[in-house]
Amino acid sequence: MNKVTIIGLGYVGLSLAAFLGTKTNVVGVDSNSERISILERGKSYFYEPKLEYYLKKSMNKGLKFEHEVSSNTLSSDFVFVTVGTPINNDKIDLRNIKNVIQKISELLSNVKQCPSIVIKSTVIPGTTDQIIKPILSEYGLKEYIDFNLLTNPEFLKEGSAMHDTVFPHVIVIGGSNEKPIKKLVNFYNCVYPKKQKIIQTNNITAEVIKYANNSFLATKLSFINSIANLCQRLPGTNVDKIAEVIGMDPRIGNQFLRAGPGYGGSCFPKDVQALISFANSVGYKPDLLDAVKRTNLDQITSVLNLIKNNLKTLEGKRITILGSAFKENTDDIREAPALSIIDALTTLGATITAYDPEAMATARTIFGDAIQLEKTNYAAIENADGLLLLTEWQAFRNPNFERLKIMMRNPVIFDGRNIFDPVHLRQMGFNYYGIGRK
Ligand code: UDX
Repeated sequence: MNKVTIIGLGYVGLSLAAFLGTKTNVVGVDSNSERISILERGKSYFYEPKLEYYLKKSMNKGLKFEHEVSSNTLSSDFVFVTVGTPINNDKIDLRNIKNVIQKISELLSNVKQCPSIVIKSTVIPGTTDQIIKPILSEYGLKEYIDFNLLTNPEFLKEGSAMHDTVFPHVIVIGGSNEKPIKKLVNFYNCVYPKKQKIIQTNNITAEVIKYANNSFLATKLSFINSIANLCQRLPGTNVDKIAEVIGMDPRIGNQFLRAGPGYGGSCFPKDVQALISFANSVGYKPDLLDAVKRTNLDQITSVLNLIKNNLKTLEGKRITILGSAFKENTDDIREAPALSIIDALTTLGATITAYDPEAMATARTIFGDAIQLEKTNYAAIENADGLLLLTEWQAFRNPNFERLKIMMRNPVIFDGRNIFDPVHLRQMGFNYYGIGRK
């Protein structure tokens, strides 16, 4: 049985630990002791479907948690590094990963084994070879003797992190030598069914793949939001129909074509920005990515204009926000469209009542008492002058519209995710506004 250490227990590291723990010997390390004590009770400190199920299953098989890297934890076959790489002043912040690599380097001289250090965190191209490897060398450690160094970008989505970890559409392994790459390929071949697609390449190509993947998806979203904005000016058009048909072209594909308030979350905004900054730093001006980013920011303005044009003034108006998470099935509100939209609406004088099935606690940490957080969608809708839906939770799809109409002061719905049926709602007497559904 292989011994695996996973350093950094966020969405990527914890999902990986919860899955690999069902297959092999795993230790998860995170410097946040509070999180470790929650995990030791078999609980997750964030909402993610199926995560606790796998966590418990793995813990029954021996998954352990520690809050510090030690020589013992490094005596592993594979040390996956899954710490966060946030953005700071428009550039990727590598402090967490550098600290972890330094710590590993200090301890590695006491370790007999030659572990494969596998960089799973998203890092700008060149980081593994030009920043991480030199740190290990500074400590006198020799590649292939004291350590192997590989890149293995992660493509999981929040909200389906467990599913994506158990059934990855592809596994990418970057490295500079065939032997350690093969070792990781063999490990994955034991963990996953034989038909698992595994791509081998060098470190820098693997790093670019991750950015290219996310930037392409972000481009698709900004594209469909541009078409939605065009539709907004063309009575009779419907962006959903357009997306449905262009998505039938196999060259385009039908995913990531839902118009909305723009992409958010901990990856797309950060990764697009990091790639723009990186491209500029190597002398290439990525005009397309600049436009993708700008279009996404403008989408917030488009949603606000929809509301302003229809309610005239927001002063003293009571607006209900359904959904503060950046998408469904997560309690993550990082870079969620709801954050800037709520800020703008309150600045314009509106009072906000909000509800999200899972993201209330995280919303409270950001907004405190500045907005009213309710326990149900109906409580949030009471006496509203307008309802703005921002997250496409299943639970929001079929409310009792008769009840809503009676409860609202002014029956106007701004459907930021195009999940309601405009014809039906207009027949019921609602003023309905979607995105690109003129
Ligand atoms: C993304 C990538 O999908 C994943 O591969 C990578 O590893 C991390 O970043 P995630 O941020 O969890 O995953 O969410 P994702 O489901 O990709 O959605 C990103 C954003 O796009 C969300 O704000 C979502 O609401 C928005 N989106 C997605 C749309 O507005 N329309 C769509 O059709 C799809």
